[in-house]
Amino acid sequence: MRKHLFIEGKWVEAGEYRPLFSPYSGEQIAEIAYAGAAEVQRALVAAERARPLMARMPAHERAAILERLAALIRERAEECAGIIALEAAKPLKTARLEVERTIATYKFAAEEAKRIHGETIPMDAAPGGEDRVAYTIRQPLGVIAAITPFNFPMNLVAHKVGPALAAGNTLVLKPAGQTPLSALLLAELLQQAGLPAGALNVVTGSGSAIGDLLVTDERVKAVTFTGSPEVGIAIRSKAGLKKVVLELGSNSALIVDQGTDVDGMIARAVTGAFSYAGQVCISIQRIYVHEQLFDEFVGKFVKQTEMLRLGDPLDLQTDLSAVISARDAKRAMEWIADAEKSGAVVATGNRKEGNVVHPTVLLHVDAASSVSCREAFAPIVMINKIASVEEGIRLVNDSRYGLQAGIYTQNIRTAFAAAETLEVGGVMINDIPTFRVDQMPYGGVKESGTGREGVKYAVEELTELKLICFKK
Ligand code: SIN
Repeated sequence: MRKHLFIEGKWVEAGEYRPLFSPYSGEQIAEIAYAGAAEVQRALVAAERARPLMARMPAHERAAILERLAALIRERAEECAGIIALEAAKPLKTARLEVERTIATYKFAAEEAKRIHGETIPMDAAPGGEDRVAYTIRQPLGVIAAITPFNFPMNLVAHKVGPALAAGNTLVLKPAGQTPLSALLLAELLQQAGLPAGALNVVTGSGSAIGDLLVTDERVKAVTFTGSPEVGIAIRSKAGLKKVVLELGSNSALIVDQGTDVDGMIARAVTGAFSYAGQVCISIQRIYVHEQLFDEFVGKFVKQTEMLRLGDPLDLQTDLSAVISARDAKRAMEWIADAEKSGAVVATGNRKEGNVVHPTVLLHVDAASSVSCREAFAPIVMINKIASVEEGIRLVNDSRYGLQAGIYTQNIRTAFAAAETLEVGGVMINDIPTFRVDQMPYGGVKESGTGREGVKYAVEELTELKLICFKK
């Protein structure tokens, strides 16, 4: 299966193609176009050419395209889930959930398209502002460069494409090298849904080569990126005055206070730690448990973890499959070994078969170990004992990241204190940090990024506020 580039509504051959392999079986699943500089230029020209048409398109038409797209994904939902499972090694049942969320994201985008508006400004509130009527409007930025990660190849693409089109922008999309197939199917479906040629262009290939061309091009007015802090920071430094939205990594944490009903939340905590093999930015990586519950929590957590079924992502019984690459599997094992050297105890896991890393629970981990202070993006979770929630909050905040955090507590004062003092973009009270629905604001502080996604908030990022002032 040879997959071409999608530029100006056409499938365009590239000068180079490379094989794409399944992260689980190692079998070749496709041959992917590698865009060169000329093809990236062609995509940018196409996006620029489609810009006036999209900017003029009425909101109801943009909404209708996004509604039709959601319906087309619904019709081909099983095929979409199969593609995600194959290219990302995401277990089929988790891939199906991603498809459902993708449909929801495009539906939210369709709704948001119809409510992009500004506000009236009380100009006479300042001396000298009398006799004026003023209001704001939101206008599309123009060409958006969207650079997306492998871990949600449909829904994190949807979080960029949906709001960008809802607001009347055009895009050049660079999907992750390992997961281009989902994005290419999206291009096909959007064309069927009636999107004008050039409004979405998909260039596959080398991340850094294509990324650099997009980020530095004058025609691109905003870059929206999900990926590592290192790449995000490099993008920001090269982007000049473009708007930049960055959804970066995290070592998300959960605090479990005394008095928590462990039985009532343990399955959810295990899901939060090991869903898609921990390759989720808000995956639970660190758990801080009150000393009164520590032994009970660890015993039940380990038991539940050992019930997870490992294997082929295409098998509906599978809970956890391969990580995205052999390199990442190897790195995960090295990080576990390093943690052990600094005194951590392995409660379960610490094995690897092919690229499947067994879900690993580490206890008493040193805060300086990579599994604690860096983003693992692997099925590894650490559980440490705390004497108080205050200690837990201090440990959670002792991080370069700040995306989401969770706390289970029965104490309302503790809950409010945690909500106020946790240094993150979102606090989940009595839930795991991994909770996300697609309309809520989502994004981080510190090295977890800048700006917010969640369709309404992404629309704000991808539009320009303009003031219009009438003098009577
Ligand atoms: C992410 O990994 O940042 C996305 C998490 C999600 O959408 O659930």
